[in-house]
Amino acid sequence: MLLIGVINTQDCLEKMTAAFDGAKLFFGHGTDNSWDEACWLLETLARRRAMAPLQLDSVLPADLVAEVEQLATLRIETRKPLAYLLHEAWFCGLPFYVDERVLVPRSPFAELINNRFETLLSSAPRRILDLCAGGGCIGIACAMRFPESEVVLADLSADALAVARVNVEKYGLGARVQLVESDLFAAVTGKFDLIVSNPPYVGAEEYAELPSEYLREPQLGLLTGNEGLEIPLRILAQAAQFLTDNGLLLLETGATWPLLDEARADLPFLWLDFEFGGDGICALQARDLRTQSR
Ligand SMILES: C[S@@+](CC[C@H](N)C(=O)[O-])C[C@H]1O[C@@H](n2cnc3c(N)ncnc32)[C@H](O)[C@@H]1O
Repeated sequence: MLLIGVINTQDCLEKMTAAFDGAKLFFGHGTDNSWDEACWLLETLARRRAMAPLQLDSVLPADLVAEVEQLATLRIETRKPLAYLLHEAWFCGLPFYVDERVLVPRSPFAELINNRFETLLSSAPRRILDLCAGGGCIGIACAMRFPESEVVLADLSADALAVARVNVEKYGLGARVQLVESDLFAAVTGKFDLIVSNPPYVGAEEYAELPSEYLREPQLGLLTGNEGLEIPLRILAQAAQFLTDNGLLLLETGATWPLLDEARADLPFLWLDFEFGGDGICALQARDLRTQSR
């Protein structure tokens, strides 16, 4: 029992935090520390009961404490990211349905979308492709920020697209957001003003070192060959054909970015800076990709 004798919010959060720290959990799927993870768990369950916002001295009902205890114990025993246990993850200030068929959203793309890709786009994109869309968070958040746009969510995994469909319906975007099962661009048609992609970019060596929480996510979403370069290189080789003349590709490659920068030294990558953390997203114009030397 983790939460014996818990009466109020502060006590509950302190005991949960201590249990998470004692179990040496890893935090990288929506929070980066045990206190925030504990707050997320308790706040979500309280919100689902339509309780008034909790204060540190709010007295908690015993059945809520029992439910928190159950999920906190599962978090420790299974090492599953909390988002899978809650079936909810936040991205761009929006809640998304998630389960183990998709990666937990955490991309620095959120900051770019919140800023409507300020300085990178000269006008609002009319057609947007989210390539390797997973549960659809990036493409759906784009559709919400650009209400005139049409968005295609493409992914190789039918399972991931089933989750994306839940999110498209959740936000009532069925008329503007299309789902395509596709090996990268293979089943994608037409041209796009903006392609956003957070593809798999983790190499085998890095994958083998990842904390257990990451191994709960679909391997297809993380791992790719050639030291994490295989899929990013395929995207760079094909993207130009699917971009309008003034189109823009934004491609995330996380910690693999220096390898990609070196492997495609012929391309004028613009590696973006982020105010709220994260790195490894580059911007490339269609014209730069068209003049590429290979
Ligand atoms: C890193 S996850 C990103 C998911 C989502 N965009 C996000 O940011 O949370 C990568 C996604 O790429 C998909 N994927 C892997 N290989 C693919 C391929 N060859 N073609 C299309 N999608 C692929 C996986 O199924 C997974 O959903």
